[in-house]
Amino acid sequence: MAPRVSLPQPPAGIPVLARGLAKRDFLSLHDLSESELNALLDLTARVKAYPLAFSRSLEGRAGALIFEKPSLRTRVTFEVGLHQLGAQSICLASTDIGLGRRESAPDIARDLARWVDVLIVRTFSQQVLREMALATEIPVINALSDLLHPCQIVSDLLTLRERRHRLAGLAVAYIGDGNNVAHSLIFGAAKTGIHLTLATPPAYRPSRVILEQAEADALRTGAVIRVVSDPAEAARNADVVYTDVWVPMGREEQAEQRLKDFAGFQVDSRLMSLARPDAHFMHRLPARRGEEVTAEVLDGPQSITVDQAANRLPTHKAILLALLTAPPLPFAGESLP
Ligand code: CP
Repeated sequence: MAPRVSLPQPPAGIPVLARGLAKRDFLSLHDLSESELNALLDLTARVKAYPLAFSRSLEGRAGALIFEKPSLRTRVTFEVGLHQLGAQSICLASTDIGLGRRESAPDIARDLARWVDVLIVRTFSQQVLREMALATEIPVINALSDLLHPCQIVSDLLTLRERRHRLAGLAVAYIGDGNNVAHSLIFGAAKTGIHLTLATPPAYRPSRVILEQAEADALRTGAVIRVVSDPAEAARNADVVYTDVWVPMGREEQAEQRLKDFAGFQVDSRLMSLARPDAHFMHRLPARRGEEVTAEVLDGPQSITVDQAANRLPTHKAILLALLTAPPLPFAGESLP
């Protein structure tokens, strides 16, 4: 039967991130090829449009979530996502398992791999994620580290694609801290041809290593990635203005200094007025009204932050499917309702 709604034609089968028999992890967008990232976005769109078609895709499987930092969006959407795919989930707080204190991260990963099929980990150090991934034969997903937040940016790219119907050539201004979100946005922009201008105070520029790693992708896709120190320069004629909190989780003792350092970097209606009239405002949330963004902008008509949060659910389901579903695939586009 023909689909009742018009959707982009899906590729044949689910894009699989596993290479041959080797398992794949999802630790950084840098690890994905451009075509894998695009295929993942296509799959996310399909999962979002046809959730019931995937309701048994991971039947009998289980995922363990290890969260060393607080989370609303990431934890809920991974847990609900696993359930909606037919799998079970168990969430372990740092206090439950004493990651790195009671037991080393590799030891924990090795034992968990005997009981579950995927580890979803929010932690401080990217190195802990790498150690867990190396220690086990099951996929490890980065649910945020101090260095990167790849799941967030897949969801954001989908949100932008839905709104703008393209990614290549979009002008995105990122204002504020050159943090984990900025780093993953750099990788995402480089792989999709987005022109990204980051405006940060000098002491908060994104990592030079990340910028260098993204260079080869940017050359291939035509993405232009710049770092400046003037928020107005970044925002001028932008299609999108993106910001994130100034005081990250776990750095609360730096709050006073950071609030001083980021003076002049708040996204307010004056800064938004420099962007294109139809520009969107993005924030990964949670936001602090009156710090990095005014309430007027965050709650205003240009804000698409609720869409970003909503898209976390299909994004995480697609990441799980891509990592855990091997070819030949039981699902094909022609069997869509
Ligand atoms: N954006 C994001 O990662 O939200 P949480 O910290 O609530 O998971």
